[in-house]
Amino acid sequence: VKLFQLVYVSDAKELMTEAAIESLLTSCRRHNAENNISGLLIYSSGHFIQLLEGDETILGSLFARISVDKRHHHVQLLHFGVSPERFFGTWRMGLLNLDTVARLDRSRLEPFATGITRLQSGVAILGLLREFRTQLPATDGPKDKAA
Ligand SMILES: Cc1cc2nc3c(=O)[nH]c(=O)nc-3n(C[C@H](O)[C@H](O)[C@H](O)COP(=O)(O)O)c2cc1C
Repeated sequence: VKLFQLVYVSDAKELMTEAAIESLLTSCRRHNAENNISGLLIYSSGHFIQLLEGDETILGSLFARISVDKRHHHVQLLHFGVSPERFFGTWRMGLLNLDTVARLDRSRLEPFATGITRLQSGVAILGLLREFRTQLPATDGPKDKAA
């Protein structure tokens, strides 16, 4: 079975607190674990960028649900294609909140989040997202299980 990656950008309907994002992530991680989905969610000043990795059909139906989620809008698919490897295989859904993680280089991501480069090829963002592996802890697993 081929591995697929999907990347989209969207805008939150309202600015989200850290707690609101964490609570969204808790249910995402449960669902993603059951469906062998991994990925990364980036939040920055009301904008989301999400990478989802997994089976093509499962990703398709998840994206259909995400697209109609009332918590955000302007959902725009940037990339949906086969990948030789998972970038975030040890995360059910990694989180980078750029509003609270100051050490990241926000300047390179912001053009994607704010729409400036939304029409650009989605492949361009994949390499950038991959670099963020080094900015995350090794897994999101133990933290959630303990909670
Ligand atoms: C920015 C954002 C990212 C999301 N990421 C995921 C995800 O990775 N996995 C997931 O199952 N749901 C995710 N959701 C939630 C889905 O939109 C949906 O609420 C969830 O899959 C439950 O769908 P259901 O209520 O139709 O069962 C996300 C929602 C938002 C707003």
